[in-house]
Amino acid sequence: MSGPVLIFDSGVGGLSVVTSLRQRLPGAALVYACDNAMLPYGTKSDAWLIERIVAVCKAAVAASQASVLVVACNTASTLALDVLRSRLTVPVIGTVPAIKPAAHLSRSGHIALLATSATVNRPYTRDLIDTFAADCRVQRIAADSLVTQAEYYLAGQAVDMAVIAASLAPLWRDERLDTVVLGCTHFPLLRDVLVSLAPWPVAWIDSGDAIARRTAQVVKSPSPGRGQGDAWVTADTEEVTAALSRHGFATPIRLLIPDGMSARLSPLYPQ
Ligand code: DGL
Repeated sequence: MSGPVLIFDSGVGGLSVVTSLRQRLPGAALVYACDNAMLPYGTKSDAWLIERIVAVCKAAVAASQASVLVVACNTASTLALDVLRSRLTVPVIGTVPAIKPAAHLSRSGHIALLATSATVNRPYTRDLIDTFAADCRVQRIAADSLVTQAEYYLAGQAVDMAVIAASLAPLWRDERLDTVVLGCTHFPLLRDVLVSLAPWPVAWIDSGDAIARRTAQVVKSPSPGRGQGDAWVTADTEEVTAALSRHGFATPIRLLIPDGMSARLSPLYPQ
């Protein structure tokens, strides 16, 4: 493998996977791309999202000369993995909710999936639950506001504890709940806050290490080479630049999306 490992997400959520990748592949060159102009993905229509994800990933792979793409986004992976694999020439590693390990770990058999609206409603997710957690009670909870809160948190801004508590409230209706799947890569970034708001201890499971293990199988001989720490965005914002820099990435370059898909700035960021 000569090119770097490219991590892609709608926003800064993929940085939670970067931490696992650095532990598992200390020698590999990692580069990062995010479609922050279109954040959040979790509330957008499927047909539009597929074309957008393909366009941004193609442009990012070309710009970075990556040898492997890690789609560090459950919302993108549960929708577009097959299409990405058919339209890109590099190996594509996806991120899907950690239902299987959660079902193994839970003692009570009461688990919850916390993810974006798109992810909790996807057929892919329902299949995962039917296949790996058929004997469990699985609550599927959409928590799109946590995406925004994680973006604020990583930008060094204050989070709104009331908003986070309200997103978590449905979890605590099941008194036997013992395991929560963090089915959005933004959510592990808020882990300390989530733990502090839990009325009883639960296991919070994410997919970071599983993705890193899979990436290590694909990248057999990691090299620190070309591109280490480069980053691309679809909108220039101080917030994302600051979060990337705190995680060891360079000032990002604006990615040009050639197919004319509009790049209006996400309402997350003031214009
Ligand atoms: N980080 C993404 C995920 O894992 C999605 C956030 C978004 O809605 O854009 O699902």
